[in-house]
Amino acid sequence: MCGIVAAVAERNVQGILLEGLKRLEYRGYDSAGMAILTNEGRLERQRAAGKVAALEACLDASPLVGSVGIAHTRWATHGKPTEHNAHPHQSGDSLAVVHNGIIENFEMLKTELEGQGYAFTSQTDTEVIAHLVGREFTLGQDLLASVQRVLATLDGAYALGVVHRGEPDTLIGARKGSPLVVGVGIEEAFLASDPLALLQVTDRFIYLQEGDVVRLRRGGSIEIFDAAGQLVERPIQVFEHGDGAASKGEYRHFMLKEIYEQPQVIAATLEGRLGERSALIESFGNGAEQLLSKVKQVHIVACGTSYHAGLVARYWLEQYAGIPTQVEVASEFRYRRVVVPENTLFVTLSQSGETADTLAALRFARELGYLGSLAICNVPGSSLVRESDLTLMTQAGPEIGVASTKAFTTQLVALMLLTLGLGKVNDMDEARQAEIVTALRGLPTVMGRVLGLDGDIEALSMAFAEKHHALFLGRGAHFPIALEGALKLKEISYIHAEAYPAGELKHGPLALVDSEMPVISVAPNDALLDKLKSNLQEVRARGGELYVFADESVGLENAEGLHVLRLPYIDEALAPILYTLPLQLLSYHVAVLKGTDVDQPRNLAKSVTVE
Ligand code: AGP
Repeated sequence: MCGIVAAVAERNVQGILLEGLKRLEYRGYDSAGMAILTNEGRLERQRAAGKVAALEACLDASPLVGSVGIAHTRWATHGKPTEHNAHPHQSGDSLAVVHNGIIENFEMLKTELEGQGYAFTSQTDTEVIAHLVGREFTLGQDLLASVQRVLATLDGAYALGVVHRGEPDTLIGARKGSPLVVGVGIEEAFLASDPLALLQVTDRFIYLQEGDVVRLRRGGSIEIFDAAGQLVERPIQVFEHGDGAASKGEYRHFMLKEIYEQPQVIAATLEGRLGERSALIESFGNGAEQLLSKVKQVHIVACGTSYHAGLVARYWLEQYAGIPTQVEVASEFRYRRVVVPENTLFVTLSQSGETADTLAALRFARELGYLGSLAICNVPGSSLVRESDLTLMTQAGPEIGVASTKAFTTQLVALMLLTLGLGKVNDMDEARQAEIVTALRGLPTVMGRVLGLDGDIEALSMAFAEKHHALFLGRGAHFPIALEGALKLKEISYIHAEAYPAGELKHGPLALVDSEMPVISVAPNDALLDKLKSNLQEVRARGGELYVFADESVGLENAEGLHVLRLPYIDEALAPILYTLPLQLLSYHVAVLKGTDVDQPRNLAKSVTVE
């Protein structure tokens, strides 16, 4: 949700900042801007509504030259995505600020500043920060102290970058509720919302903690102050995924690249976590065995696609580990009275580890007497990871496409590991544990075979491009997969899609079925297959056009109104993971046919760090 990149370097930083913005564009893409302290001592700014390419055109026409600068790509919260509302925001011609997050008390602060004669040129909450820091600076504080004093008056969430003409060699950063990392260069230093933005200049990062303020100065000086204002040391971590993570390589879109990476990242997520016949609980982290052995119930909380992964896990945890499980969207959970049974484990799922609602739910849960918390997350050093008792990292690598794909299937794998771990301490049948372990080892290969069906799925997608609605059906653990299929389709192709447990069809949605309503179903060879087949007959009998992804052994044949694509055999426990793939590919190809912006669909952003 908004991307920040900033630099204090020994060279002109315009190119570094622009490249950083391009790499951060997945976080927000409705306007962008840059401010640089020029070598002649001026503060100069360029902003543009629209994508980073629009800003690039402005910079081509009128470049900014200097060694200290800040830049931003926006996902609008306060004020429309216009040039005036684009960051950086300034106080006069001396100070510029970029901000990610929301300042909740900005109206009160704005009224106070207007009373003192400050004029506002935008509708954003951010502009108050510019004037407040500018005011402190004129009172004789240095830039660090000015920012620290202002932060004490702000309610809400922020990651900030601030520069001032009066301290031309300094860049201040701060974070509370929104991510910010320091990139450590050679006699240079950088700030960004995500390490990806800076991989072209460094692979060494310091993940700032809640309440940290950092002062970067020419020559590579980095000073970090904690929330109490004390100078602190934070570890430098090396980014492991390489710069390739930030590029599409041979693929047309990040989403397609990330779909194709799934066999490999699933193998990486399993690495070191499977024994011969069961999961290795000790590989889940320090204290995992002790904690899991006490668990009697599980509450899972997440948003969007991650929530769908949680719904699948409910079926697994109850069926295989015998653990009663509840799953809830974080934005609901955090605002209701929750009854917590004894020995309940609180589990959060999040690709980014920064989703505001999920993070707030974790903080809320801490007050409720849970046995402990476990985060299943893809971003090391993220807030969720830092604040949870236990973490199970997915090894999906950076996910850039706004539509989550590999993060989802690696979450499912991590949840199956959790199921096996809890099963092991709860007398799950040992032979069944061993079967699932064997199936998990073979999963990447079977996934590769499903990806080989891409051409057939692309051919199927043509039937959807002109449709306005679609219905997804599944039963059991495949109902959440239907939900995920519908979310993918609406998210990137803007086709209205809904998902139902197939048995619910006759209770209402069947009324929607006609030849204009494609109905997509997943039909693995499991205990509910015969029931599902009857539900599919109900659709055919009403003239509906059915598209079924089915196990090769289920005996469904192509016929009028029935299009069947056969998938290889997989142990039914893992079928939800495998059957996700054709739905991802279908949505992808429909979106490409419709010509939408696949990686950056309208109105959305990758990391939802606001409520
Ligand atoms: C998925 O395609 C979405 N873009 C979205 O639903 C996402 O899964 C959700 O915002 C949660 O994000 P998280 O996993 O980073 O917490």
